[in-house]
Amino acid sequence: MAGLADFRETVGIVTGASSGIGAQLARDLAARGMRVALLARRAERLEAVATDIRRAGGEAAVEVCDVAEGSSVERAVKAVLDRWGRVDLLVNNAGYGRHVLFKDHDVADIERMMRTNYLGTVYATKAVLPDMRGRGRGWIVNVSSVAGKLGQPDEAAYSASKFAVAGLSEGLSYELAPLGIHVMTVYPALVRTEMFTPAVLARMPERSMSFVEPAVLSRDVLHALARGRHEVTVPRWVAIAYVLRVLLPRFHRRMTARIRLPVLRDLTT
Ligand SMILES: NC(=O)c1ccc[n+]([C@@H]2O[C@H](COP(=O)([O-])OP(=O)(O)OC[C@H]3O[C@@H](n4cnc5c(N)ncnc54)[C@H](OP(=O)(O)O)[C@@H]3O)[C@@H](O)[C@H]2O)c1
Repeated sequence: MAGLADFRETVGIVTGASSGIGAQLARDLAARGMRVALLARRAERLEAVATDIRRAGGEAAVEVCDVAEGSSVERAVKAVLDRWGRVDLLVNNAGYGRHVLFKDHDVADIERMMRTNYLGTVYATKAVLPDMRGRGRGWIVNVSSVAGKLGQPDEAAYSASKFAVAGLSEGLSYELAPLGIHVMTVYPALVRTEMFTPAVLARMPERSMSFVEPAVLSRDVLHALARGRHEVTVPRWVAIAYVLRVLLPRFHRRMTARIRLPVLRDLTT
């Protein structure tokens, strides 16, 4: 399957386009000529991104949508198909994290996180598939996380939701390839977005904090998409940890425990 590099006459959907990574990807896709539908819950934030895109000469549509609700996603995707008649690219990016020890994490929020991060990806993928299958062409980009490759303390439920996205995405990459649909999984490490509130930053040891900007993430994602890659970790060097985990598991455990140890002192209280 060829990569996607020529965005002229194409239509894309970006979920979670009201801020951070999704907003940046939407702007960059629109700047390359793609008509982009922006999905998220906050209408005014989506309108602000759409206005930026239009001012820059691009085309954008806003669909307010809660990805945790299947009917909401179906309605939004149908609106895009009614408007533009096709979907070439779906970016499943909507999601949220929670830095909290598992013992303190509300089960209702764990369920909501799974519905948003994992089932949101399922709902949107299901909704675009008939169109992509009908045309024998499409690209699906699923935003997991390095926490979806390497389980993280203080984010166990978030890690689980991102492992779920990664598993779905990898499985689909094989299953959908014969249908002409390319699936790529994105594994960001730390990207400077609203996800990192002062409260979240206060829980993280400074040593682990090496952020990339959303523009860098977006550039690397579009580069990988153009080359037809099936996965991309940003920054790339972080992927060394995946190898260490397999080849030197005890060393990997010691490093992870050491980096995160300050957070774990809460466990004794
Ligand atoms: N930043 C990082 O370091 C990092 C690292 C690894 C993975 N990621 C992943 O990257 C994705 C984007 O996160 P971000 O860092 O850009 O954070 P962000 O700025 O907080 O953006 C999250 C986006 O997801 C949307 N969203 C959340 N819940 C939603 C729902 N139920 N329905 C529809 N949209 C929803 C938000 O929009 P509304 O609130 O308007 O609905 C927002 O547009 C997430 O999946 C996150 O897990 C981020």
